[in-house]
Amino acid sequence: MEFLGGLKRTCYCGEISSAHTGKEVILMGWVHRRRDHGGLIFADLRDREGIVQVVFNPETDRSAYEKAKLIKPEYVILIKGRVRERPGGTENRDIKTGLYEVEVEELRILNEARTPPFPVAQGKVDVDETTRLQYRYIDLRREKMRSNLIVRHRLTNLVREFLNAEGFIDVETPILTKSTPEGARDFLVPSRLNAGKFYALPQSPQLFKQLLMVSGFDRYFQIARCFRDEDLRADRQPEFTQIDIEMSFIEMEDLMEIMERLFVRIFETFKGREPDRPFYRLSYDESMRRFGNDKPDMRFGMELVDLNDVFKETGFNVFKQALEQGGLIKGVKAGQDFSRKEVEEFEQFVRQYRAKGLVWLKMKGGALSSQVDKFLSEEERNSLKRLLGMKDGDTAFIVADPSPKVVNDALSSLRLHLGRRLDLVKGEDYRLLWVTDFPAYEYNDEEKRYESVHHPFTSPRDQDVAILEEQPLRVKSKAYDLVLNGTEVGGGSIRIHNSELQARVFRLLGISEQSARAKFGFLLDALQYGAPPHGGIAFGLDRLVMILTGSESIRDVIPFPKTQKGTCPLTDAPSDVDDKQLKELFIKKV
Ligand code: AMO
Ligand code: AMP
Repeated sequence: MEFLGGLKRTCYCGEISSAHTGKEVILMGWVHRRRDHGGLIFADLRDREGIVQVVFNPETDRSAYEKAKLIKPEYVILIKGRVRERPGGTENRDIKTGLYEVEVEELRILNEARTPPFPVAQGKVDVDETTRLQYRYIDLRREKMRSNLIVRHRLTNLVREFLNAEGFIDVETPILTKSTPEGARDFLVPSRLNAGKFYALPQSPQLFKQLLMVSGFDRYFQIARCFRDEDLRADRQPEFTQIDIEMSFIEMEDLMEIMERLFVRIFETFKGREPDRPFYRLSYDESMRRFGNDKPDMRFGMELVDLNDVFKETGFNVFKQALEQGGLIKGVKAGQDFSRKEVEEFEQFVRQYRAKGLVWLKMKGGALSSQVDKFLSEEERNSLKRLLGMKDGDTAFIVADPSPKVVNDALSSLRLHLGRRLDLVKGEDYRLLWVTDFPAYEYNDEEKRYESVHHPFTSPRDQDVAILEEQPLRVKSKAYDLVLNGTEVGGGSIRIHNSELQARVFRLLGISEQSARAKFGFLLDALQYGAPPHGGIAFGLDRLVMILTGSESIRDVIPFPKTQKGTCPLTDAPSDVDDKQLKELFIKKV
């Protein structure tokens, strides 16, 4: 092991350029690869900014050459040498510094490294994710991970600069707090100083940012960590980051205008192109009708078609019953002829979403065929052709169910499945849109009570306040989501700023006065001390970085994420604790 000995790095490996030719440089980094060519030893030296080739030639410096025989991948070294252009034919166009190399005059081995559990130098690693997470510090050396985290850094920086210029003030809110109402399960932290009591980790800074509006901060933002004890998926982590925003004295349009400019800036910077403004907008109802969900991927068409009217007189029992029970029949058309096997696979696919089957229609020589041929009248065939826009070679799929939700879930998922199968999403294409006019409340059949679709602080539309108690299911809210390529990247709302209206909403949701006081008394009080009209939004930073970097998993954009089971293979959290610690916290093992 050797030391720096006062030597200073002159630049990063990845920065070597024509400006350095003929000059002496000092570089420090990791050995990416080493190739022994008998007379010469080549190494790729890597640091944060990239890779450069260094050459050990016994004629330049014999001792450096001898030492270079010892170095292995991931050794940490320092080299001093002269930059030169690579001889013709030996350039490497795949790396930024590929036209240059450094002829080494001095080598110091600063540290050795054990053989890593997986190679850093390979683009795609064929190793299970648990191993990658266990050795995350090595995994993060890989080019893709390094560049993902740098994009993340650049994005948060851009957001901060943009919001600062727009007059937003960054305020921190507590992590040890009380349950917040985003609808997931809380993570709890026992209090040692208050026997038997618990803090909750915030699911979002929601209540605090509203309080900051009451305090008069006018425009707040925070890059905020949020905690939700949910079942995890490819785009969900128990601990994730929001770009959290709140503003006073505004309406929905004002907020959307600023957020659109933020996203224009983001796409300009990271993708070199600007989305058109104003962004496309879709009401929740229209989104459900055309796409079957509230986060449509609009990079391709294949919209769903409502077929209830076509089958008013149907003799096919499945369809008839669906309609009699107030259900839905919808179809989707794909411009492709599928084999029997594929069609069967699609039927299995929709069954995952509780659809009871899948009717297919094929168009050949101007005529429709289907497995339910015998039930289709001439009139129905004509309507189907027209409404679905069937051309020769097309296949369409129909799902019927007494539950509209089942139909929409099944067909919106099938639409995405077909979109992928048919490769309808081409290259870099980004479709941003707002979904608005969400229903404010839904009925929870199991628990026999109304629930907020967003959260209970979201304001109903002005014109719907009058029917709040009589027709709660017809009340729409002032909530909005920002959707990017089929992912909900952000959501927010204009809030209730009047304590009476807030109390009415709690009553509607079956939250007793007592329980409202116990849970959110501080907010109800604050609303009585001069709360301005206000509203806000939060964007999922991790999801945004996923999309900007083309990552499949949210874990690839978080430096130290949790596994699907919520564990950290690196630190081994969550882990056992001493009985003594439990005792201090008044906790008994069961
Ligand atoms: P919401 O719950 O919609 O709103 O969250 C805002 C955005 O955060 C992202 N997100 C997640 N990302 C990763 N893992 C998760 N488990 C996760 N959960 C949510 C999504 C989502 O759009 N307080 C409100 C915002 C407001 O009303 O201002 C809130 O938290 O991209
Ligand atoms: P069955 O009469 O149940 O044998 O169904 C006849 C065909 O209709 C089968 O190929 C099913 O896939 C299809 N089918 C059954 N139920 C539904 C439904 N709810 N929606 C769409 N297709 C269905």
